[in-house]
Amino acid sequence: MLLSLAWFALGTLLVLPFYLLLWSRRARLTRKLPGPTPLPFLGSALELGRGPVEMMTNTVRLWRQYGSNIYKMWLGPELFVFVSNPNHLEAFMGCHINLKKSVLYKFLFPWLGEGLLTSSGKKWKRHRKIITPAFHFKILEQFVETFCHNSEILLRKLEAHGNGPAFNIYDYITLYALDVICETTFGVSVHAQENHQSQYVAAVKGMARVIMERTQYPWLFFDVTFRWSELRRKQEQYLKILHSTTNEVIQARKHYRLLNPDSSFSVDDTGVKHKVAFLDALLTAQNDGEKLTDEEIREEVDTFMFEGHDTISSAITFCLRLLGLHPNVQDRVYNELVGVFGNSKRKSTYRDLQDMKYLECVIKESLRLFPSVPFYGRRLEQDMKIDELVIPSGTNVGFMAYCMHRNPDIYPHPEKFDPDRFLPEKVQGRHPYAFLAFSAGPRNCIGQKFAMLQMKATISDILRRFKVITPSNVVIELSWEVVIRAPKGVFVKIEERS
Ligand code: HEM
Repeated sequence: MLLSLAWFALGTLLVLPFYLLLWSRRARLTRKLPGPTPLPFLGSALELGRGPVEMMTNTVRLWRQYGSNIYKMWLGPELFVFVSNPNHLEAFMGCHINLKKSVLYKFLFPWLGEGLLTSSGKKWKRHRKIITPAFHFKILEQFVETFCHNSEILLRKLEAHGNGPAFNIYDYITLYALDVICETTFGVSVHAQENHQSQYVAAVKGMARVIMERTQYPWLFFDVTFRWSELRRKQEQYLKILHSTTNEVIQARKHYRLLNPDSSFSVDDTGVKHKVAFLDALLTAQNDGEKLTDEEIREEVDTFMFEGHDTISSAITFCLRLLGLHPNVQDRVYNELVGVFGNSKRKSTYRDLQDMKYLECVIKESLRLFPSVPFYGRRLEQDMKIDELVIPSGTNVGFMAYCMHRNPDIYPHPEKFDPDRFLPEKVQGRHPYAFLAFSAGPRNCIGQKFAMLQMKATISDILRRFKVITPSNVVIELSWEVVIRAPKGVFVKIEERS
């Protein structure tokens, strides 16, 4: 430990003058921006409070306090500028420079390495190019069967609660989403729903909390100090579970490909001949000499396993809660489903999901109020001019999707759940960057079409079978744990439809 500290002290002494220059430039150029007054060393970290619930509440409080457009905040040595004006967001997100993620994403590195979410530069570009065809709509079409097969299992599990008291639906949806992402994108069944104490899901929650706690304590920004903390010990435990799960998935798929060499997984010029799992695209690229290492493949599997289930479970659960609070909206969705299926109990097809137009408005309105990734950001590699202001390179820019979605100038009566806001004629007059649940620009969510299809498939299957009732309309407590969560669960009742 002493040796590490000595290196840290020496390194600090050498780079300090250089950093002081950069800090003073950042401070000078952004001095006109409003924001809390920083304390020495800590910056304004204390403003965020303790734990993920306070982090969520205080982030929103600061936005209300310092303006709905742009404000600044120092967290330890790092400068953050938070933006929530659609014009500013478009300037940052829409351009092809400054694609690097903010400094806080480095806390994800031990888990996700440099997967698509966290990487930048040439590596990100190359991987995005390899992975994009695996999310072509022709491929997504084939996933509908997997959504349906897994939602049948989900409905069987939910049956036990039919006409009973309120229960926490969050865990059921999470396990269902985990089964779906593993079967569709990795071609491997993990049967999470059948074995409902998933160590993996618990480790994802634990790891997300470690990451957010690091954000709140600037002295843990540095690896050298983090290494000796209690949080690091917890992190190691979670990583063991997370990485062993993804390694098992990769090995299972490799084994399957070895036994089934005929199940070739290629996309031809006219579309798709065979079912292509995302993992196959990576393994094929590796075999074709694209120089994807085993480590890089694991990083992507970790990234997709996390992004592909945690975001969707949060989105479906919040949407069900809102439908349970608004029976008139739920009836309208149900009538749409009767229009699509009549009295038939048949499974959904891709075409059916396309026809669920009102349900799509409902899901978007729910994501407006509860975007699965409420805040995300970049670190500028080049200065950016916003209106008359220069935001200097080295600044972390926070994109405040959750807050912008609650700006009354964009969405009148923003707390009101009103899916009609997303009818085509209403969207037309709105700024293209006024809805950012899936981000936008070159680093937008690669899984957004997949997500929308899966959410429609799941919610429609649940509503065709059950009426959802949310017994309590007290404001729900939210936490920011990379994704947005309801830490006390989401309780609903379900009644069998006659
Ligand atoms: C309701 C569901 C979802 C929501 C709300 C959502 C939202 C987002 C957002 C806001 C980002 C940008 C994050 C950032 O800039 O740091 C993002 C990126 C990403 N999402 Fe999603 N996501 C969802 C589902 C999915 C699914 C199902 C997958 C995979 C199958 C996925 C994979 C990714 C990946 C890999 C990125 C990084 C893309 C890049 O930087 O090139 N997401 N998502």
